[in-house]
Amino acid sequence: MSLRLNIIVAACENQGIGINGELPWRLREEMKYFSRMTKATTSSGKQNAVLMGRKTWESIPAKFRPLPGRVNVVISSRAKDPGAEFNGSTVCGSFKEGIQELQNRTDEVESVWAIGGSSIYEIALESEHLHRIYLTRILKNFECDTFLPSFDPKKFQIVTDPAVPDEMQQEGDIIYKYEVYEKVK
Ligand SMILES: NC(=O)c1ccc[n+]([C@@H]2O[C@H](COP(=O)([O-])OP(=O)(O)OC[C@H]3O[C@@H](n4cnc5c(N)ncnc54)[C@H](OP(=O)(O)O)[C@@H]3O)[C@@H](O)[C@H]2O)c1
Repeated sequence: MSLRLNIIVAACENQGIGINGELPWRLREEMKYFSRMTKATTSSGKQNAVLMGRKTWESIPAKFRPLPGRVNVVISSRAKDPGAEFNGSTVCGSFKEGIQELQNRTDEVESVWAIGGSSIYEIALESEHLHRIYLTRILKNFECDTFLPSFDPKKFQIVTDPAVPDEMQQEGDIIYKYEVYEKVK
């Protein structure tokens, strides 16, 4: 059975997604949205998987990882390093290996969410399995050192998803909106 891959990412106006190994902003409701979207399944008895780079894994406070209710897959060249701290996750040596691992687990895994960072998004954007990009557009500039790779808007169409609020969101002085892009077949 074919694997369905979605990207979920929050980016500010300069396409920034991170700084110093952390998020550049604190958006509690947006975090809840991330959690809700990546957990939601249609078939009971299945979970989704979150696929992430090693630095994104490390950016999650130890007490909150693995992300609960989801199969956590971390991509790292340190997959076989006994000193590495990957408790509660499956570690794979490449994105392709991660996808293969999850393809073998479609009886327990419904969808795969690529949750960052930059290099994982870059590969996911080119993946034959890519279905949608769930992009939170933050309408503000933040200083960042990590960025969302650009994607060709001609290859995607904006769609609505009943699970995604379509009105503008605001937390403190930060205004943002949720967008969903679907790959054109
Ligand atoms: N705004 C958002 O939505 C969002 C989402 C996620 C993350 N972030 C932010 O982004 C930053 C982290 O992202 P990042 O881009 O710096 O790092 P990352 O992609 O999370 O992790 C990079 C690491 O992943 C491993 N990796 C990636 N591609 C690989 C491949 N093809 N083969 C083998 N290993 C591979 C390597 O680990 P090894 O060095 O162990 O080999 C690499 O050093 C943080 O600031 C985080 O807060 C933001």
